Amino acid sequence: MVLSTGSNKIKTAVFISGRGSNLNSLIKFSKLKNSPITIDMIISNNPKSKGLEYGKIHKIKKKVFDFKNTLSEKKILKELEKNNINLICLAGFMKILSLNFIKNFKGKILNIHPSLLPKYKGLNTHEKAIKNKDKYSGCTVHFVNSRLDSGKIINQKKVKINKFDTPKTLAKKILIQEHKLYPEAITKILSL
Ligand code: GRF
Repeated sequence: MVLSTGSNKIKTAVFISGRGSNLNSLIKFSKLKNSPITIDMIISNNPKSKGLEYGKIHKIKKKVFDFKNTLSEKKILKELEKNNINLICLAGFMKILSLNFIKNFKGKILNIHPSLLPKYKGLNTHEKAIKNKDKYSGCTVHFVNSRLDSGKIINQKKVKINKFDTPKTLAKKILIQEHKLYPEAITKILSL
């Protein structure tokens, strides 16, 4: 595996853009005695992200960058390096990272996506699954590569779609599974 834990926990940064419920589940996971990670930084492109509040609550360093150009990415890379970050978890992060950024963290960036990839990359996954009358949808954690939602899949959870589901009810059911899936994905890659 690309990441070696040794006796030390992996220093992790979580990138968010909004609510941060996956961030919260990762923080809870990181606080378990046997967790392989610590959450050392929260990074957002959006100063209004609700999730930034978790930084305050848990005393985790938080930073906002605009991610608009290579200069801002350089600053972020510097900051990550300064904090010895060795794993990045994207959690509801709405910006696309540049190829150069990804290369700097090759094999060390994960993303969570609310569909059973390779189905429904991009946005509005729940609408698409319902419209196509799929019996199941779910969520996926994958490595990040240069193509959107296309990196190697680490793990997935399936969720049944019933005839009364709306995008909203389906999103809610899937989110519950996301909160379990992300910690499991991290445990999986770190024990490979
Ligand atoms: C989640 O559904 C995640 O899969 C998707 O964006 C949503 C973020 O939710 N990428 P939250 O900010 O973690 O609550």
